[in-house]
Amino acid sequence: MATESEISDGDQLDRELAELLEVERFEPPPEFRERALLKDPAVYEQASRDPLGWWTRQAEDLHWFSRWDTVLDDSDPPFYKWFVGGTLNVSYNCLDRHVEEGRGERVAFHWRGEDGQERDITYADLLAEVQRFANALKDLGVRKGDVVGIYLPMIPEVVVSMLACARIGAPHNVVFGGFSAEAVRERMEFSQAKLLITVDGAARKGTTAPVKDRVDEVMGGLPSLEKIVVVRSKGTACEMQQGRDVFYDEIVAAADPHCPAEALDAEHPLYILYTSGSTAKPKGILHTTGGYLTGVSATHRYVFDLKPETDVYWCAADVGWVTGHSYIVYGPLSNGATSVMWEGAPDYPHKGIWWEIIERYRVSILYCAPTAIRACIKWGSQWPRKHDLSSLRLLGSVGEPINPKAWLWYHKVIGGERCPIVDTWWQTETGAIMITPLPGITATKPGSATFPFPGVFAEVLDESTGEPLPEGQGLLVLTRPWPSMLRTLYKEEDRFIETYFSRFGRETYLVGDAARRDKDGYFWVIGRIDDVVNVSGHRLSTAEVESAIVAHVDVAEAAVIGQHDEDTGQAIVAFVTLQGTLEGDESTIEGIRGTVADRIGKFARPKRIIWADDLPKTRSGKIMRRLLRDIAEGRALGDVTTLRDPAVMGELEQRVSELQAQED
Ligand code: WTA
Repeated sequence: MATESEISDGDQLDRELAELLEVERFEPPPEFRERALLKDPAVYEQASRDPLGWWTRQAEDLHWFSRWDTVLDDSDPPFYKWFVGGTLNVSYNCLDRHVEEGRGERVAFHWRGEDGQERDITYADLLAEVQRFANALKDLGVRKGDVVGIYLPMIPEVVVSMLACARIGAPHNVVFGGFSAEAVRERMEFSQAKLLITVDGAARKGTTAPVKDRVDEVMGGLPSLEKIVVVRSKGTACEMQQGRDVFYDEIVAAADPHCPAEALDAEHPLYILYTSGSTAKPKGILHTTGGYLTGVSATHRYVFDLKPETDVYWCAADVGWVTGHSYIVYGPLSNGATSVMWEGAPDYPHKGIWWEIIERYRVSILYCAPTAIRACIKWGSQWPRKHDLSSLRLLGSVGEPINPKAWLWYHKVIGGERCPIVDTWWQTETGAIMITPLPGITATKPGSATFPFPGVFAEVLDESTGEPLPEGQGLLVLTRPWPSMLRTLYKEEDRFIETYFSRFGRETYLVGDAARRDKDGYFWVIGRIDDVVNVSGHRLSTAEVESAIVAHVDVAEAAVIGQHDEDTGQAIVAFVTLQGTLEGDESTIEGIRGTVADRIGKFARPKRIIWADDLPKTRSGKIMRRLLRDIAEGRALGDVTTLRDPAVMGELEQRVSELQAQED
């Protein structure tokens, strides 16, 4: 129960936040601006006058074995190539370069285990381990171009694995640890992975979840998959299949310690990362080497105003998402940053663990998702207030729109009103941050990602005419290629063109988000226009969840929508029709949620299941999700004239209001 002083503190805080709500713009604090890497607004103008010159300068900050001949080959849009003819290696840029230049003893990661265990890993340590593991992968038959799956929790070996793949030119395919083994299998199958790196067990708020055993249950019979490497992290017993499975520590110990980094073509594939699209089949986003590293390195340095000698940087995402790839691994390491890596959840062993970690390592830059901030608001400001957060100087937000209230709380309670907030808009597809403030230059408005990063060209187009809107709401597009853009959808070229480059032609990238520009030209990203739902910053497709639900034996049909949710941004709501005369009850609900957890992962389980005798369909049998969204949001129904049976809607409205009454 809250004490009296906490209650009055809460009231006072609410009053102060209400006052801040009146502030239209937050200028960069003068002390921050003075020391910022970028403080002259002319950078925007220079980059837009000569984008290729700007990106060239960013690429020149990296180490290249041989320089490119052409910065951008745009002769066959949308198949763009960057830094054509150049060769480099991502792991060399992230490791060797720092060690050779005398930064080997710098800590790359302060790793902290869920149980409080601590490990400081220097750049020299990482380089040594990566070389050995790269050789071990070669010993297991992995060759340049072979796909390697990685299904690991937030342990240092996940970084080692990614860099070892990059070192030998084997594209990795990381699957977020919250996905189920089924989802891993599917992604290994689509990408024809040759080897999978996984773990015995993973920490889950005080218990250990078996991982290898789950993987074994589903991974048989994949012809491409030859080997499984198992990291012994928790000492969980697991069976090892002779001839297929090996322990990470054993092969690393046996491997040659010296593995020079391969000089790879700038367009050599670095990784595939599966993400949700409009259909049930996830999209394999393909990123390559030179352009990607240029994009993540430059954005990481300038958006976070990184001073690698003094900053301690913490991106509190999971490496399994693109945020982790670009801003836990490749951006920070290429810039020689010292980062924090936390194995666990934000509320275990207590709800103040993040703030304890910030105090412990004197974190100066924090990058996290609005969902986490909203959870912290709910838990109360007494948690952060117990800790010294004075080391923080910059805050970042990513993954979903941040509502002004959460922005202001972050600004006041965490940032002590002295830290600029960078609300960064981007996607798995864009590889790097695209729309964001520059913290020493841009005046921010809570809830707006502000302006495109220098060298990035965004517009909001009128939905019907396709004309750019200087002010108003429409479809967000990127109108010129950028170095870290996806190159294709793995093995699905037609889908790549169809999804991103068909609506406005082959030179205009359709983002899939609606956005608004205000009178000052600020961008406000509103949310997806397709059937992608964003639950706590986790991207899911409604079709993917539907296909998991209908796998349950009792289910005849399902329609899934995203409903606005105060805590998670959006929540999954499923309208479900059962087989024949079956009646749904609590155990059916649990069964369906369990099926979704098995097929996709626990984070995809529907928050609400609404039984429907029938679903609203057009005469041709297409489910009208738009009407289901109207019902769920309590809005007046849109156009119902194309419905086959309008009576369906009345029944569903009734069900939804009954369910809401129960929940209240
Ligand atoms: C949403 C995560 C508003 C958006 C990096 C986008 C955001 C999708 C923001 C990509 C933001 C991400 N403001 N919306 N700052 N950042 N989004 O691929 O809908 O997991 O299209 O990449 O998240 O999600 P993804």
